[in-house]
Amino acid sequence: MDSENKEEKIYPLGYEPQEKPDTLDHDIGNHLLDFILKSGPTEIVDTDLFAVMAKRRSTRKFLDKPVETTKVDKIIAAADTAPTAGNFQGFEIFYIKSPDKKKLLVEACNKQPYVDAPAVLVFCKNPSRVKFDFPDDILKKFAIQDATLAAGYSQLAAQALGLSSIWIGMFDEQKVMDAIGTDLAPSSVLCIGYPKQTKFPKPRRNLKDLVHVTW
Ligand SMILES: Cc1cc2nc3c(=O)[nH]c(=O)nc-3n(C[C@H](O)[C@H](O)[C@H](O)COP(=O)(O)O)c2cc1C
Repeated sequence: MDSENKEEKIYPLGYEPQEKPDTLDHDIGNHLLDFILKSGPTEIVDTDLFAVMAKRRSTRKFLDKPVETTKVDKIIAAADTAPTAGNFQGFEIFYIKSPDKKKLLVEACNKQPYVDAPAVLVFCKNPSRVKFDFPDDILKKFAIQDATLAAGYSQLAAQALGLSSIWIGMFDEQKVMDAIGTDLAPSSVLCIGYPKQTKFPKPRRNLKDLVHVTW
């Protein structure tokens, strides 16, 4: 089989990572993922995970500046490093490029205008990928956890790349599904871009209110 046909099986139509290894070992599932995570851009702002966590602050106002494909690649690759139940990867990512679809998403997300962000990723649950012999409600629970965790990884990756984001959980599931053309229910919409303003992180509660020690 020629390499072109093989690549068609790897990249979705309309999205290819900007940087790819010269030779792609199709037998190693993580080859492309590892390459993307290790490759440029060189100006990653932060590689200290805890600094990334400590500095992250949601943003609803983005500059009118596109997010570089290399950064989108890393944000998507980061999602793919998240653990999933049984490693069945019970989630899918919809990378929304169409301005018209973004407008539909704004409507689907309770008219939240910032959903029309430079980069919009919709994380959907796909319980049919979770091949455990468990009741459906358990498989659904796994899929929502898979999709949510993956989105969280992407959100941190965006921060590490000098971007900011807003997590959208307030939406009409069916309207989101209609907007992006899927029968998979969304778990979250991650809107990403360069922040207009860098703000301090929001305060959290005291540790004593957060942690309940059980002996
Ligand atoms: C499950 C969940 C749902 C959220 N839904 C929305 C939303 O629909 N719209 C919005 O503007 N922000 C939404 N947010 C963002 C939160 O408001 C924000 O994370 C929170 O205020 C804490 O601020 P921080 O992210 O800067 O720490 C959501 C966050 C989470 C985790």
